[in-house]
Amino acid sequence: MKKTRIFSVSNQKGGVGKTTTTVNVATALAALRKRVLIIDLDPQGNATVSVGLKRGYGRRNSYSVLSGLDRLKDSVLETEIPYLYVLPSSQELLGVDIELAGVEKPQFFLKNALENAEAFDYIFIDCPPAVGLLTMNALVASNCVIIPVQCEYLALEGVADLVKTIEKIKKHFNPQLEIHGIVMTMFDGRSNLSKSVVRDVRNFFGERVYETLIPRNVRVPEAPSHGKPVMLYDFRSVGAQSYVRLAGEILTREKEMNHE
Ligand SMILES: Nc1ncnc2c1ncn2[C@@H]1O[C@H](COP(=O)(O)OP(=O)(O)OP(=O)(O)O)[C@@H](O)[C@H]1O
Ligand SMILES: [Mg+2]
Repeated sequence: MKKTRIFSVSNQKGGVGKTTTTVNVATALAALRKRVLIIDLDPQGNATVSVGLKRGYGRRNSYSVLSGLDRLKDSVLETEIPYLYVLPSSQELLGVDIELAGVEKPQFFLKNALENAEAFDYIFIDCPPAVGLLTMNALVASNCVIIPVQCEYLALEGVADLVKTIEKIKKHFNPQLEIHGIVMTMFDGRSNLSKSVVRDVRNFFGERVYETLIPRNVRVPEAPSHGKPVMLYDFRSVGAQSYVRLAGEILTREKEMNHE
């Protein structure tokens, strides 16, 4: 059987499009009948809400699974979208950095919890905007990282630190970890700044940057308030269409990496 592919969507900078990318790439792959799980590892719970579920819904959630209190398969919830499942967030995630400090191998909790995840083709972990133990757990449990970078001034700030963290985790905990790609978000084709940021990031990361640029599009921020991915809220919007293209590009890269 094909192995589950696990992606962390991570950037310690806030508001760069991690959750939007997680939710919409996951939805696009579910539409292709891939069995996809979103793990909402951010106490803010935005991914959970964006697929139409309530934050802190029920007792079982990403916190209880990470902590080993519940099993993954008992805790994932269906969404309205066929093939798309979510492990919802919980406020209790806020305590993880303190709770796991001093515990042996605190970076491995999520990896252990995902041992029996073969029911899914893809898992996308929406990381919080910080490089604490939650993000560490996500990176140790993942095959790859997708890094959303917003097309704005100081876009690369923090990304160099994230790359260093990824290298460290690769060396000490998870040798297979790779950067799958960098996705440029909230691109504004009329702005010289947007274009020069894309140039800088391509200079820095080369081919790791996906060709698909995600444009700034008003339908994207509207969608979560309707509890829907933008693909379902307004499929024809440029925001939705660009995420469909990005998902296609991710699958192509998967083939090139011999995982599809
Ligand atoms: N392509 C886009 N066009 C317009 N607005 C967007 C786009 N992508 C994301 N946004 C909006 O920008 C804000 C930040 O996006 P998002 O929540 O995905 O970022 P994040 O990195 O997950 O944030 P955080 O670090 O707080 O978790 C949200 O209000 C979102 O709706
Ligand atoms: Mg987020």
